[in-house]
Amino acid sequence: MITKLIEKAKKVFPGSDNFQAFFSPGRVNLIGEHIDYNGGFVLPCALDIGTFGIASPRDDEFISCYSENFSEIGIITFSLRDLEYRLEDNWVNYVKGVMKEIELTKGFNLYVRGDIPNGAGLSSSASLELLIGVIANTLYNLGLSNLELVKIAHKAENEFIGVKCGIMDQFIIGMAKDKSGILLNTSNLEHHYVKINLGDYLIIIGNTNKKRSLSTSKYNERREECEQGLKMLQKRFEIKELCELSCNDFENSQALLTDPIIYKRVRHVISENERTQAAYQALEKGNLVEFGKLLSASHDSLRDDYEVTGIELDSLQEFFLKHGAIGARMTGAGFGGCAIALVRSDEAEHLIEKVREGYKEATGLEADFYPVRVGNGARKL
Ligand code: GLA
Repeated sequence: MITKLIEKAKKVFPGSDNFQAFFSPGRVNLIGEHIDYNGGFVLPCALDIGTFGIASPRDDEFISCYSENFSEIGIITFSLRDLEYRLEDNWVNYVKGVMKEIELTKGFNLYVRGDIPNGAGLSSSASLELLIGVIANTLYNLGLSNLELVKIAHKAENEFIGVKCGIMDQFIIGMAKDKSGILLNTSNLEHHYVKINLGDYLIIIGNTNKKRSLSTSKYNERREECEQGLKMLQKRFEIKELCELSCNDFENSQALLTDPIIYKRVRHVISENERTQAAYQALEKGNLVEFGKLLSASHDSLRDDYEVTGIELDSLQEFFLKHGAIGARMTGAGFGGCAIALVRSDEAEHLIEKVREGYKEATGLEADFYPVRVGNGARKL
């Protein structure tokens, strides 16, 4: 397949040679949702689907980009001396955002193919950002570490694209290895590779196919609510991030959190941080029933306290549980996108058909399903 992609790249960029192939995965978060910007624990893993990039260096200061997924736009070329965000540049803004953080004097030709459905909450954008970082690093021997590339990609998303996301997506995509998930402490970036041993079970991703149209503004709104909660709590507690607060202290802090909405948001954050650590323990012990329960509890909290699910994600979760999953939850930012479910491998096919039917009846939408196959991080192929 790579040979084919290289042939296609040569057709789009005739005359250019020395193409090299790169891959950057998508990700799914198993648990630890909306706490990576509150200093909490998250447990994501990289997928084996992602974004391919075929690139060759140029002698001038231009970067030319073409994506199979946006073939109608054709080639977009920009200069490394003019790195302004332009709406009409569409996906290429992600390329620009990363280049703004990496000072190159010479550019490259880039041919892209992405297998991650856009807007599904599987991090197609972070996948693209890390892809660009790895390409620039490799073509020009910049000697940047994976962690440096993660930070560059994160800054590009925060500042250039304007989504105030936490570091989870870029971290797992840049750092994943040995087909393992990562338990990441987002307050200090300490991390631990976790083998995902599911025995007779597997994790299925269900895509609601509801596009997350409002997600950026709602996402930034939740961040602000957390900041408000933090300020209220700082009147009594010496904390820099919400997840520093112990459950006990939270129990005794109701009087400080005067706004009921803010109270609920903080309750999600504190409880999710606890659930994530418990889920990691359950996974390590092979206690999948407990792991599944924690997944479902995470969804309930995201639905009732954090209010980022919506009818599509809620009904997908319900149908997963109704038809035999031992745990199910939304994953990613929410407001549409994907849910995951822990199901017995030998029952998966039958279960998917039932969930598909029920979900269609409830929402009028057709869901897509993919098994989670854990993959490695962004790399040269
Ligand atoms: C998006 C963001 C992440 C994280 C999740 C919610 O995927 O990019 O940083 O906040 O939402 O857990």
